[in-house]
Amino acid sequence: MARKFFVGGNWKCNGTTEEVKKIVSTLNGGDVPSPDVVEVVVSPPFVFLPLVKTTLRPDFHVAAQNCWVKNGGAYTGEVSAEMLVNLDIPWVILGHSERRSLLKESNDFVGDKVAYALAKGLKVIACVGETLEQREAGSTMEVVAAQTKAIAERVTDWTNVVLAYEPVWAIGTGKVASPAQAQEVHSELRDWLQANTSPEIASTTRIIYGGSVSGGNCKELAAKPDVDGFLVGGASLKPEFIDIIKSAEVKKSS
Ligand code: PGA
Repeated sequence: MARKFFVGGNWKCNGTTEEVKKIVSTLNGGDVPSPDVVEVVVSPPFVFLPLVKTTLRPDFHVAAQNCWVKNGGAYTGEVSAEMLVNLDIPWVILGHSERRSLLKESNDFVGDKVAYALAKGLKVIACVGETLEQREAGSTMEVVAAQTKAIAERVTDWTNVVLAYEPVWAIGTGKVASPAQAQEVHSELRDWLQANTSPEIASTTRIIYGGSVSGGNCKELAAKPDVDGFLVGGASLKPEFIDIIKSAEVKKSS
């Protein structure tokens, strides 16, 4: 079964109401391939989710950038999976490296969050990726396997999981992974899934790449067989996000 190309836009902690409206209007006017060719999900900060959800074109969907690890309650500042479900927010990004490093989210904590969010009916973009130090030490695969294992230990149904490989050294740095570097890790991750989950999960789970993806480099990356799409940060706030969505066409012709 072919894996549908997936493009996520992670707006991170950016935007004013006016800026958000402008981005939505650019997206709404964008000429992009049909939803059977590409799935598009944008992830504004929590406070803008209702605005984006109600104004965004219906063929694009929204994601939260995080959610709490269990049901709500006395957790000041957190937003629960139940609340996202209540607001009809279909997706959530979990385990982004900025949260892993700045907020010290461990592999187990991220695994718990992924399992909880899925159990509540959310679809999850689960992020993994190594630091520059880890890459230089030759431990890239060990790191991403451990991050993925913490999810695999808690999740049996991967239908609603998109795995985002985002090398930390490539995020927000302008230093995109080469297509060969991305393909290498994606293919090893797929092998890992094959060995540790099931051949079915390995062949159907989308593995998307994130880290300095732009309108200029997306086509070459998209052409790699195990790159099933992108998670885009900086460029998702700009009109070039449309070009990144269009890179899905590369798969159609391959
Ligand atoms: P970037 O961010 O595209 O700005 O590098 C990607 C991400 O953090 O998801």
